[in-house]
Amino acid sequence: MRKKNLCHCSSETEEEKLKLIDQIVDNYKNKEGSLIQILHLVQGVYGYLPLKVQEHIAKKLNKPLSEIYGVTTFYSFFSTKPRGKYTIRVCLGTACYVRGGKKIVERLKDILSIEPGETTADGKFTFEIMRCIGACGLAPAITINDRVYKQVSPDRLKQIISNLS
Ligand code: FES
Repeated sequence: MRKKNLCHCSSETEEEKLKLIDQIVDNYKNKEGSLIQILHLVQGVYGYLPLKVQEHIAKKLNKPLSEIYGVTTFYSFFSTKPRGKYTIRVCLGTACYVRGGKKIVERLKDILSIEPGETTADGKFTFEIMRCIGACGLAPAITINDRVYKQVSPDRLKQIISNLS
């Protein structure tokens, strides 16, 4: 059997994505506390969690939409809007803040011409602020998708971004 790619992928049609979502929900629905896992996997398929997908999941799980919506809006790793190819998160936890995190935020605003919480018009970058990710010893830290960058300076930030294709 062909292994399903759970990363969001534009080559899958809307119908295929919905089928995949149904499979995920069916696989996890009877497991205790599985809602976060389901939403995480569905976000992997869809790239984000639009309202129509949340409604679909709510119906399949026989839960109120408000419960699904409450979870997707509570956790910062869920997004209800489309994200860019690269999600850049700047840590503004205490250590990173003290060691220059604010300068990284300002520089990133300049480079991307967007504010935190926004995505560039070309769909390439989403810019977010996050709290401590446990890299305080090598602050300031940022993440780009799943990769952590430590001891980032404003100049190094520019170089890191220009290396992203
Ligand atoms: S405060 Fe930024 S990694 Fe801990």
